[in-house]
Amino acid sequence: MVATDKASLDQWYVIETEAVIPIGTMSNRLLGVDLKVIRSDDGTIIVHAERRDEPLPTKTRFGFLWTTLGTPERDIFPVPETDEPDRRYVPCGAVSVRASGLRIVENFLDMAHFPFVHTDILGAEPNTEVLHYNVEIRRDVDEVWATNCQFFQPQAALSATDGLMTQYIYRVMTPFTTLLYKTCPNSSNRWDVICLFVQPLDPDRCRAHPVMYLIDDVSATTELIHFQQLIFLQDRIILENQRPVLLPMEPRREIPTRADASSIAYRRWLKEKGVTYGTSLQVV
Ligand SMILES: [Fe+2]
Repeated sequence: MVATDKASLDQWYVIETEAVIPIGTMSNRLLGVDLKVIRSDDGTIIVHAERRDEPLPTKTRFGFLWTTLGTPERDIFPVPETDEPDRRYVPCGAVSVRASGLRIVENFLDMAHFPFVHTDILGAEPNTEVLHYNVEIRRDVDEVWATNCQFFQPQAALSATDGLMTQYIYRVMTPFTTLLYKTCPNSSNRWDVICLFVQPLDPDRCRAHPVMYLIDDVSATTELIHFQQLIFLQDRIILENQRPVLLPMEPRREIPTRADASSIAYRRWLKEKGVTYGTSLQVV
């Protein structure tokens, strides 16, 4: 199904890792529209959408090819840490998920599932409590931020040698892109950065593009990727079994718990923007 809401159309989306685009033509898809990605011998990339004469706008940023079906008001959001030369850039490939892209972002923001889904890695019983944290919609940048988040983690990162109280900051830059800053086991004054760029193919089907910017000069890249993929595949099982499949936008009847604060802010922000793609409000 093709997106009709301007709020979803007027965004930049990752559609591919730049380095894996071969010379020639490859198929792709975004918001229910079939795309063709054409790379010439000189490396130039053009993206065509079905039933459109003009090629789509494109950008390359963070090692990805980005495009849009609409007219974004803003450039792709900045992530200043990605320019720091001593960070490890770890693209983790694309993962297909049969779920609404908004549910993927919402799950990324949720700490309450750590002990139950990422058992003995990002959480473990009996340390299941989500401590108080702050959530706000930052109007100046039009992003959702959750700060002062913390959780006890048996193995917070591949480089962690023991359990530690891990600090988190979450940031939602656009409806389908998010990132987190978390305690870095190798540096006391800097944060590891993990981004998740979601490419909605259809309302209930996506590709997720995780990428990490780490302070870690010890671990092998393949080990780092495997660690992140293990975490994400655990999430995928949960995401694909969530019902209803589309993100419910009606006022919720259940009493919100502290763990839901970021989810409530995220849904309110989506509603303000008029995002309906991948939600229960989508016009069929
Ligand atoms: Fe998770």
